[in-house]
Amino acid sequence: LYPGPVEVGGIRLRNHLLLAAGILGTTGASLARILANGAGGVVTKSIGPSPKEGHPGPCLVVVDGGIINAMGLPNPSAAFVDELASLAGEPVIVSIFGGTPEEFRTVAGWFAGKASGLELNLSCPHAEGYGAAIGSDPALVQECTRAVASLGVPTWVKLTPNVADIAEIGAAAERGGADAIVAVNTVKAMRISTALRRPVLGNRFGGLSGKAIFPVAVRCVYDLYEACSIPIVGCGGVSTADNVVEMMMAGASAVEIGSAVIDDIGIFAAIADDLYSLDGIDAGEIVGCAHA
Ligand code: DOR
Repeated sequence: LYPGPVEVGGIRLRNHLLLAAGILGTTGASLARILANGAGGVVTKSIGPSPKEGHPGPCLVVVDGGIINAMGLPNPSAAFVDELASLAGEPVIVSIFGGTPEEFRTVAGWFAGKASGLELNLSCPHAEGYGAAIGSDPALVQECTRAVASLGVPTWVKLTPNVADIAEIGAAAERGGADAIVAVNTVKAMRISTALRRPVLGNRFGGLSGKAIFPVAVRCVYDLYEACSIPIVGCGGVSTADNVVEMMMAGASAVEIGSAVIDDIGIFAAIADDLYSLDGIDAGEIVGCAHA
């Protein structure tokens, strides 16, 4: 039942399970380790137009059912190209961000031809001028997508759940020439320390990931499947093979796994073993089957 290579949005994957952006994706060695542990593909930490240190700590707080982070898009910018040298030919997708369509195009140009494809981060919930500020404006989403997709590199666009109508945003990405939509980035969140009487995170606000957001992600994928005709990659709280099947029934052609990798680096092999031995489930056939 193991599917062999899977083609999604112009990218050839080893199976339906990818490492989500931002988790262990900062060095070539860590990405290689995730691939060796059974991931069908990996997405890097988001890379931007200039080196960035990120938000002041604490940057992460563990909560019931998940994690709230406010890393602040720390990244080495163009220097990240060196990390890809040892990964030539592997299913590696570089996550990129920028503040304008021109910046997106510049960053994309550094990696075009050096990776399997690019994932546009239009969805960080707590990065001023970047991310969700762009990803909640359909015209800007279309322009940023166009600026990258017109380079001819497979272009995936990662959306925020923090909008009234995600389908409208997905449709804009599709008009811009996206090859696939990734749904979703983290959900706006915060915690306050009652002992200290102040927000826990250095940045005050962050984004919630993990099991707690799985139903939110399923709903977003379901809505996008109704509105779009390009493939959708489900992301948000996936931690079991049954979660993968549910995401696929909502409309996902593949899934990304993030928070669950922190607990268990063997999760890709474990989920793949379960997924591809499930009786009566053919991953290629169930996509979107929950739609009327
Ligand atoms: O939750 C997130 N945190 N989403 C992003 O896109 C970026 C990341 C960060 O670096 O803060």
